[in-house]
Amino acid sequence: MVDREAFAALLGDEGQALLGSLEHYEPESELAVATRLRRTHAPELVSAALGQARLRQRAAAKFGAEDAARMYFTPAGLEQSTRANVAAHRAERFRRSGVERPADLCCGIGGDAIALARAGMHVLAVDSDPLTCDVVRANAAALGLGDRIEVRCQDVGDADVSGCDALFADPARRGGKGRVFDPEAYSPPLSWAVAAARRFPHSALKVAPGIPHEAVPGDAEAEWISDSGDVKEAVLWFGAAGPAGTAESSPVRATLLPAGRSLSSRGLPDPPVGPVGRFLYEPDGAVVRAHLVAEVAADLDGRLIDPTIAYVTCDEARSTPYATGYAITDVLPFQLKRLRALLRERRVGVATIKKRGSAVEPTELRKKLKLEGPGECTVFLTRVAGAPTVLLGHPLGSPAGA
Ligand SMILES: C[S@@+](CC[C@H](N)C(=O)[O-])C[C@H]1O[C@@H](n2cnc3c(N)ncnc32)[C@H](O)[C@@H]1O
Repeated sequence: MVDREAFAALLGDEGQALLGSLEHYEPESELAVATRLRRTHAPELVSAALGQARLRQRAAAKFGAEDAARMYFTPAGLEQSTRANVAAHRAERFRRSGVERPADLCCGIGGDAIALARAGMHVLAVDSDPLTCDVVRANAAALGLGDRIEVRCQDVGDADVSGCDALFADPARRGGKGRVFDPEAYSPPLSWAVAAARRFPHSALKVAPGIPHEAVPGDAEAEWISDSGDVKEAVLWFGAAGPAGTAESSPVRATLLPAGRSLSSRGLPDPPVGPVGRFLYEPDGAVVRAHLVAEVAADLDGRLIDPTIAYVTCDEARSTPYATGYAITDVLPFQLKRLRALLRERRVGVATIKKRGSAVEPTELRKKLKLEGPGECTVFLTRVAGAPTVLLGHPLGSPAGA
């Protein structure tokens, strides 16, 4: 674990030269590299540089290789940071609302502060952890944003945010015993952040994607955000950046990155339920979390295969950015023997196994299926009208599902 002294040394000339020499280092050769470097540098500096080089490599997935190679991280700071495209999406919404000086309370290593600054805003970034503040300062400087990010190391409860026209807060969701799920166990608690958010004309609070809908305050719009199909987070928007700002905006939204498509609630009743048709659509996780399956079903002129399962079926192929479509070839009750025989007959060697509403473990099932052959297919383990059922199909657009 790097302390502030070691981090300061890393920012000095010797530390920078050392870190620069490790840009392309291979983690497998770490022992040999460390032994060599310790001949000419202090061991603390060598381990700080190696630790930072490792974190930069890991950070490339969130921040892109170019920025990650210039930025600084702590292990916890990297883990808790917002990935660059999600932060940029949020910053753009603040920018469109005319925000010029947001306060980023609980700024961490700066994932959001950087995006807000890059969108042209002047950010007041507050965090109570001194090392984290050193890191966000170093990041602002490394990315040429030093004049747009002012860092203050203090408890958010003590921060003077006068002069700010918006608030963004990303409370810590990790305690001493790991991840916390109760919003009141966040640091600071969600109720504190909500009260603070209401004092600004524009505010957004980042929360866990598993936040129950009942915990969303009535005056907030909740936005669930996914990136390449993985749900990353939920955001509660207050004020003019949220529901009050636009006439037709709704309290719930699902946004799918990288395309940036956004689906809002139209207040539709539950979709109809009916037999499995020729096509099956799997809504994106953000759509499911936002409870917007009815909107997708309506757009597809579709129905649910079961009242409790988020699979939409229809008889004509339609395109939607909010769900992945499959052409269905078979529908059968779940029986291992029958499924194995059918996949043998089709000579399926590669199966993508998906499940919703089934207790069967895909890895266990795959072993038992003993797949062999040149064919490919998608296997859905699910329930149809309450009965355990298997659907076989192919993604629309693939050679077999076209
Ligand atoms: C989830 S991280 C923020 C990540 C950040 N949005 C990013 O993208 O890099 C939460 C941060 O809140 C800070 N924090 C927790 N409680 C705080 C408090 N009461 N006052 C100030 N900072 C606090 C922690 O030190 C941690 O760095």
